Amino acid sequence: MAKAKTVYICSECGHEAMKWLGKCPDCGSWNTLQEETRAPAAEEKKVKRAPGVGAEALPIGEVPDEATERMPSGIFELDRVLGGGVVEGSMVLVGGDPGIGKSTLLTQMSANVSRRGDRVLYVSGEESMRQIKLRANRLGANESGFYVLAENDVSIIEERMRSVSPAVMVVDSIQTMYRTDISSAPGSVSQVRECTAHLMRLAKTSGCAMFLVGHVTKEGAIAGPRVLEHMVDAVLYFEGDRSSQYRILRAVKNRFGSVNELGMFEMTSEGMKEVPNASETLLSERAHDASGCVVLCAMEGTRPIMTDVQALVAPTIFGNPRRMSSGVDVSRLFLLLAVLEKRASLPVYNQDVYINIAGGMTLTEPAADLAICAAVASSSRNLLLGADWALMGEVGLAGELRAVPHAERRLQECMRLGFSNIILPKSNLKGIRIPEGMNAIGAETLFDALKFLGIYNARGSKA
Ligand code: TYD
Ligand code: MG
Repeated sequence: MAKAKTVYICSECGHEAMKWLGKCPDCGSWNTLQEETRAPAAEEKKVKRAPGVGAEALPIGEVPDEATERMPSGIFELDRVLGGGVVEGSMVLVGGDPGIGKSTLLTQMSANVSRRGDRVLYVSGEESMRQIKLRANRLGANESGFYVLAENDVSIIEERMRSVSPAVMVVDSIQTMYRTDISSAPGSVSQVRECTAHLMRLAKTSGCAMFLVGHVTKEGAIAGPRVLEHMVDAVLYFEGDRSSQYRILRAVKNRFGSVNELGMFEMTSEGMKEVPNASETLLSERAHDASGCVVLCAMEGTRPIMTDVQALVAPTIFGNPRRMSSGVDVSRLFLLLAVLEKRASLPVYNQDVYINIAGGMTLTEPAADLAICAAVASSSRNLLLGADWALMGEVGLAGELRAVPHAERRLQECMRLGFSNIILPKSNLKGIRIPEGMNAIGAETLFDALKFLGIYNARGSKA
């Protein structure tokens, strides 16, 4: 019998090496190579066959149009993130920190789907049937079409799945699943990859929509190789602080819809509740009488969301000034502070700067730049901005304001929520319809925008 071989596999990219290395030669990550033993039998199964294997190549016009069937999950925010519902035979990976609510949301979805008459199989590799039942009781999910199974072996799961023939299946979590023909431990790169491939084949051949729960590493990526994200059809991430009740579900990859769609939930004692009015919720706890608070309208996918940026600027007492940000990339903050200093004559070199975005939101689009700069300026000058002001615009290195996408949609949202004084890049004013009653001011530079706000007339804060 051939001897089992030891290989080292990178947990980031799946690169295989024959000996241990500190740095992966393929993706360059450090300390990601993990030792795995490989049984000789497993090695022969290298070739992965895609569904529809053996089919003839066809001109694209002759490929039959198959309408992708979408079924509603019963949770509108989840449907939105998925691009309009659950697609038959698709595979969705749901990642997020432990305790953030992945199992809760998927249990609620399972209950909703089974309530409509379809069967759902919820496979848990982490919890016993009793634990699943306890959660389901709490969520009021006791439908007859809701099947549960506590199992880790993928081939047994396949058997049970064939007997239940569900329309939707949840696998919680992929890191606890194993295949007996692979010798490495569950959660290792080979197991995760092969189990996903196995379940993927099941999903594609049976038409069952599959939801995989994926654990995340300390760095926030889904544990296991990146290839996992490449294999599945959609990747959803739960964001948000466990200590706050709001959770944000974001699509980072979606073969059936647009990415960067976002769904907002609130964790309650009866499970995850949808938050349809994200803007109202985020703005509800806004401080009205403090400097450094600026409202902005961010686009999350197709949806405008208003939130507020808070900045606190305080003199540095000792050593280097501190810069901290939550919800904004700190290197973007460094850049904006440099622009403020050089192009808008606002010295912050001897000031500590703290930035926070309300509700645990993360702002990734540059359209938030102007609001961040204005919040810093407002705090450093101790100037209160009017309660009905909202700002948007990308700030360039020359201090110029650049146009933001979807300006009209953003203005409508601002108007809807009662923000009628808007500062936006001048180039955005061309060719858009300004909502009635709105005072939209176009500014060419950051300096101009801050001048409009009266930053330079205000006295600097000594406090
Ligand atoms: P869970 O879905 O088990 O998290 P994950 O699967 O992402 O690890 O949710 C865990 C937390 O949610 C737990 O701390 C309890 C809380 N929770 C509620 O607040 N309300 C509920 O109705 C349920 C079921 C859980
Ligand atoms: Mg869980």
